[in-house]
Amino acid sequence: MSDLVRVGLAGLGIIARTHLDVLAERADVSLEFTADPGRAGPPDFRGSTPPHYGDLAEALAAHDPDLVVIATPTATHADLTVRALTTSTARVLVEKPLVHDLASLDRLRALDETAGVRGRVFTAHHFAFSPEVRWAERQIAEHPEWGPITSITSAFHDPYVQRGEQAFASYGSAWTDSGVNQLSMLARFVDLAGLSSAYDLDGGASAWCTCEYRSRGERGTARLRTSWLTGSSSKETVLVLGRSGVEVWMDHTAMTGFAARGRDLLASHGDDGRTPRKVAHYRPLYESLLSGRPDPVLGFDTTATLIALHHSAA
Ligand SMILES: NC(=O)c1ccc[n+]([C@@H]2O[C@H](COP(=O)([O-])OP(=O)(O)OC[C@H]3O[C@@H](n4cnc5c(N)ncnc54)[C@H](O)[C@@H]3O)[C@@H](O)[C@H]2O)c1
Repeated sequence: MSDLVRVGLAGLGIIARTHLDVLAERADVSLEFTADPGRAGPPDFRGSTPPHYGDLAEALAAHDPDLVVIATPTATHADLTVRALTTSTARVLVEKPLVHDLASLDRLRALDETAGVRGRVFTAHHFAFSPEVRWAERQIAEHPEWGPITSITSAFHDPYVQRGEQAFASYGSAWTDSGVNQLSMLARFVDLAGLSSAYDLDGGASAWCTCEYRSRGERGTARLRTSWLTGSSSKETVLVLGRSGVEVWMDHTAMTGFAARGRDLLASHGDDGRTPRKVAHYRPLYESLLSGRPDPVLGFDTTATLIALHHSAA
């Protein structure tokens, strides 16, 4: 018997590259198969190529993986997850967002009794693993005297304007794609309650939403800006702890952060520049998933809460 985790990967687009890079680093993982209808052949994985299929169903008929990774366009996640749940015994790691609408969430939930959805389905909420987020989380936990987080502003910009319709086909909309990153990241800091407003702008290429939350028992509002109308990626979040006058700034693009009060720098977090940003997210994500005690932010229950919030516009 081998202790290797046999992984099957569906979808060989942009983010699959990061999954493959991180999986290739892990001695406890083998790549059992890849599946993608749009590609000629399988990728190189540690110097060889795995069996490749045009369709996940065909791959699952021929293999018995321990983990199926779904890295396909957002609108296909629900169907492929149901396929993996019902025709294999594997756990399933699905790219975020797990589903694109609430009906799909209900469809998955309905399978819990027969297919064990809550123990088998995980969502790649990778932003929750970004180093500056974990740093800021530790700072705030270590400084209860800073008090509650009284307001939050987060802006996520992605350079998808030039990808036009392809961006909508892969990711749905700016809010569908980045809103769930913002919410899963903020869940590290506050108890999210629900959206108090949501505006899809620029035909879905931008959005402006506000989300209510509680922090140390007090209510606050997070202002969330997402947009594809830019030529370069830039993502920042500012947490204001107004009772103490402390602000915690996170630059998610540079993976840096600092805490300040008035003129004083209280703490800072730098990056050595050696690890590509997405690898810095997915390496700890896989460590957690394969540890036997996955972080709850990956689990189905947290995902269901986040998806409900994501679609909870008043
Ligand atoms: N690009 C990123 O930086 C990034 C980061 C994190 C998460 N994600 C998420 O990952 C998912 C994929 O994003 P992407 O950027 O890799 O998209 P992409 O369009 O680059 O790649 C998607 C791939 O899936 C394949 N595909 C389509 N239908 C399929 C099917 N039924 N079975 C197997 N393969 C299929 C396509 O041929 C394509 O190769 C999206 O949900 C996105 O939100 C992307």
